Amino acid sequence: MSEQNTVLEQLLAQALTEVKTDDLKTLNDVRVKYLGKKGPIQEAMKAMKDLAPEERKAFGQLVNTVKSEIAEAVEAQTTALEQAAIVQRLANETIDITLPARHLHTGGVHPLQQVVDDITQFFRSMGYEAAEGPEVETDFYNFEMLNLPHDHPARDMQDSFYVDPHRLLRTHTSGVQARTFEARGEDQLPIKVICPGKVYRRDDDDATHSHQFMQIEAFIVDENVSMANLKGTLQALARHLFGSDREIRLRPSFFPFTEPSVEVDVSCAKCNGTGCNVCKQTGWIEILGAGLIHPNVLTMTGFDTEKVSGFALGMGVERIAMLKYGIEDIRHFYVNDVRFLQQFKR
Ligand code: DAH
Repeated sequence: MSEQNTVLEQLLAQALTEVKTDDLKTLNDVRVKYLGKKGPIQEAMKAMKDLAPEERKAFGQLVNTVKSEIAEAVEAQTTALEQAAIVQRLANETIDITLPARHLHTGGVHPLQQVVDDITQFFRSMGYEAAEGPEVETDFYNFEMLNLPHDHPARDMQDSFYVDPHRLLRTHTSGVQARTFEARGEDQLPIKVICPGKVYRRDDDDATHSHQFMQIEAFIVDENVSMANLKGTLQALARHLFGSDREIRLRPSFFPFTEPSVEVDVSCAKCNGTGCNVCKQTGWIEILGAGLIHPNVLTMTGFDTEKVSGFALGMGVERIAMLKYGIEDIRHFYVNDVRFLQQFKR
């Protein structure tokens, strides 16, 4: 009996040393070796039946104790090894947050497009719809239908690039007027349209001129459209663009397609009208041209000027952007220097 006890105690001591492996597979082998069906514990249990009944109980208890101590040791080591593996993995997968982030180069909306989007949104909010016209335009829509017949001296104000004798790169976005009037007709009133787009002129390029630039044309045709409607719209536009305390001033002017015609000035946002270098000491800055649509323009598309009238306005996008952001040279818009463009990233 005591001999068997000693064997069991040695077995336990032996098993407990073997359990201290740091390899999970070896650990499993140890478990099978001691606790498996053909292992020494099972053998000892089988041997119990040969013992005298008075020895059986104590021996049985010892076998059970040895068995559960080995099982617990295996269990504890398994857990320890699994924990260690997780800790190891976490350490390996640590992100070094002290590393500088990789810089992502993203683009932005071009400042001219931002101004176009902004003004388009402003007019949309008042019920205007956006339209487009062709950049290669016919003489007919670019000039004739705007009350600028062949050989009219006012054509000299807008010299252009001709593709052939009847087609040219459009000199303004006003050509969309007659195109829209023809498409819609007098039975679809009101006509409220805004047209942003590229235009071209045979011009020498300098700090304020470019042979290609952008314009936004806006016009409305309805019953009883008056100068008061135009003025209210211009006032709202000027305040939207340059601040809620801006005033506008209308000066008589001439455009072949409007009568009366006006140049529109906005009170200088920098000096608030007292005079500074931006407004050339006048307190006012010219921002666009406008007027009531000339009766000739309306009758040419078959509108009855006894019934309908309208106003139109046209502005240069570059000019608005230069005033808004204090840009001193128009050429900055076209060279795509990222140092310039980045300043407009939203
Ligand atoms: N088309 C004119 C230009 O390019 C701008 C303009 C002036 C448009 C008066 C208009 C307007 O609709 O009423 O210079």
